[in-house]
Amino acid sequence: MQTVSTIDALRGQIAKLRGPDGASIGLVPTMGALHEGHLTLVRRAREACDHVVASIFVNPTQFGPGEDLDAYPRQLEADAAMLEAEGCALIWAPDVAAMYPQGFASNISVSGVSEGFCGADRPGHFDGVATVVCKLFHQVLPDIAFFGEKDWQQLAVIRAMARDLDLTQPHALSIIGVPTVREADGLAMSSRNRYLSADERAAAATLPRAMKEAIAKIEGGEQAPPALAALEQQLIGAGFSSVDYATLADAASLAPIEALSGASGRLLVAARIGGTRLIDNMAVG
Ligand code: PAF
Repeated sequence: MQTVSTIDALRGQIAKLRGPDGASIGLVPTMGALHEGHLTLVRRAREACDHVVASIFVNPTQFGPGEDLDAYPRQLEADAAMLEAEGCALIWAPDVAAMYPQGFASNISVSGVSEGFCGADRPGHFDGVATVVCKLFHQVLPDIAFFGEKDWQQLAVIRAMARDLDLTQPHALSIIGVPTVREADGLAMSSRNRYLSADERAAAATLPRAMKEAIAKIEGGEQAPPALAALEQQLIGAGFSSVDYATLADAASLAPIEALSGASGRLLVAARIGGTRLIDNMAVG
């Protein structure tokens, strides 16, 4: 397994991996600090593609002022060891200057799906995500790219960006969402879970539990607003300091809904505990 950090070296390695027969390439974009959730994406990519390329880039443009860009864990060596053990073929680990050279002036902004939820709480976040992911797609030219469903809204934004920019025509890029990997107590795996103190970590398990209870009520016919108000109360009672949103939405359009109808629903939640913002989502109906 090689690690490359310049576009020229990346292109050379990708050409080698493709080989004369055009072997398929799966891309797993990450910001590093890998956990079982990322490794599940790599395994899924290995099943589907001849070679797996993982990118590791802590993308500054998707962090807002006062967010955890500087604190975000960086552990390239440990990440590389995990990726090698999973049979990853290549790591693309550019630095900020390689990704955004002097004079970089472009931005991809996806309206609609990027506007509510995390888009409302973190202005500019999804522009940063859409722009860097579009660049990663053009840099690596994968056949299939794999993303975790834990970032449901991010996945919707990336799908919309790829569709709108004609990246997903037949015989080109496919985007696969992979179900969230959870700890034994149900907490969704996240690189940010390591920010939690022992007490916060214990309380954090209330999030998936309360979500399941709310889902059971909604699936049982209760309107979403009272079920979600109870969920918020449970989180605050467990020690969360605030709930940014707890919303039932149409799973595809992300438009908020009050009750289940024919279309499949998704419960999306973001809540803060200590200094950490946790997000999660689950299918409803
Ligand atoms: O989900 C992430 O880790 C990041 O948002 C991504 C998709 C790698 C873009 O920086």
